[in-house]
Amino acid sequence: MDKTYRYGVFGVGRIGKVHAAIVQEQGHQIVAIGDEAQAAVAAAQDELAVGGVSAFTDPAQMAQEMAGELDAVIIASHTKNHAKDALPFVRAKVPIYLEKPLTDGLQEAFDFVETIGRDPHQIQIGLQRRYDSALLYTRQLIQSGVVGAIREIRCILRDQYPPPATYSSRGLIIDMGIHVADEAIFLLDEFPNEVWASVHHTRGYASPIDEGGDTAFVTFTTPVGVLGRLDLSRTHSSGYNNETYIIGTKGTIHTGRFAGYPGPIHVEVWQSDGKLHPASQSFAMTHLTGNYPEFLPRFDLAYRRAHEQFREDLARGAAFAVTQNEVLDAQVFAEAAHRSAEQAGAHYRLQRHEDLQTYKASCIAHGLIDGD
Ligand SMILES: NC(=O)c1ccc[n+]([C@@H]2O[C@H](COP(=O)([O-])OP(=O)(O)OC[C@H]3O[C@@H](n4cnc5c(N)ncnc54)[C@H](O)[C@@H]3O)[C@@H](O)[C@H]2O)c1
Repeated sequence: MDKTYRYGVFGVGRIGKVHAAIVQEQGHQIVAIGDEAQAAVAAAQDELAVGGVSAFTDPAQMAQEMAGELDAVIIASHTKNHAKDALPFVRAKVPIYLEKPLTDGLQEAFDFVETIGRDPHQIQIGLQRRYDSALLYTRQLIQSGVVGAIREIRCILRDQYPPPATYSSRGLIIDMGIHVADEAIFLLDEFPNEVWASVHHTRGYASPIDEGGDTAFVTFTTPVGVLGRLDLSRTHSSGYNNETYIIGTKGTIHTGRFAGYPGPIHVEVWQSDGKLHPASQSFAMTHLTGNYPEFLPRFDLAYRRAHEQFREDLARGAAFAVTQNEVLDAQVFAEAAHRSAEQAGAHYRLQRHEDLQTYKASCIAHGLIDGD
């Protein structure tokens, strides 16, 4: 490792502390921390053993006072604050690792991208599936043609537990759906053209926050004719569950079938003779003990890889692999599903455009942004 990075971290709830601990373990320094909640700052100072570093409750003040001291900042505050918290650091030219999504609402997400532009060297987004070995391998298998043309994809994300009482979520699909919306776009290399969805309350679920339901089914199609489905829930009572099924014309790929804890994560390629293809492989989960967020064993290595790649890209002056541009696409997809579920499964059309104004106009025309 050539350089010790000096990080700021703004937003130090569950995942902010996970990111901070990872970069510390990777040999880097936390030189400033912040959160709008003073109690969260105090807890993080203690847990991360950074009691002596500068602490802030205002991101603009942190950016202004620390700009010259920071090599990078990690932002993991409430979703509704992401854009507003990131902007002072963009202006101070501090590279940002920003948790997903850009904001709660699509209008504000477009405004933010319009303000900062499309340059992919400013912000890496915390969509960690893009750095996950099992899913990267799955993508490679799809592209190799081993299962033929894709007929159907099904991306499953099921938490075991409700979110913490401190959490804010505009809706189950907006919060959870973004991960698998991006996964589907990334695996298929295609953007959906039609989306419809439903959100449900299943029995025996109690959450400290109201996000409209605990289970959602999102269906979509793509221009080449793939039929897709995102399954989301917070009720998978035997453990955190992430699976992807891909049904092709010559076989199927099943990534991450539920295998309990601590895994492993299987990538199974099933051939049309019902036998496993030799390209099938298994990937490790991290075996953790003590208290940890439920998603950490599955994605610990991906978060670590994401931080390494962030620094490698900075050192090389390379574009980040997942930026404001990719997360905006996933947000458009999730917004269509969220609105559909609010309107009894109405079908929403959507189309991605490179030009931001055209893209936004198309979202307004398709009812995904309320017109000015
Ligand atoms: N990429 C991922 O896998 C992943 C996982 C979890 C969360 N996230 C994202 O990260 C962001 C933060 O999520 P989180 O899980 O850290 O939420 P969280 O509820 O733990 O923290 C969010 C905010 O709640 C407040 N808070 C938390 N703990 C507190 C405490 N002890 N005392 C006072 N206030 C406290 C703080 O203001 C904190 O910034 C969200 O935008 C979420 O979408 C991403």
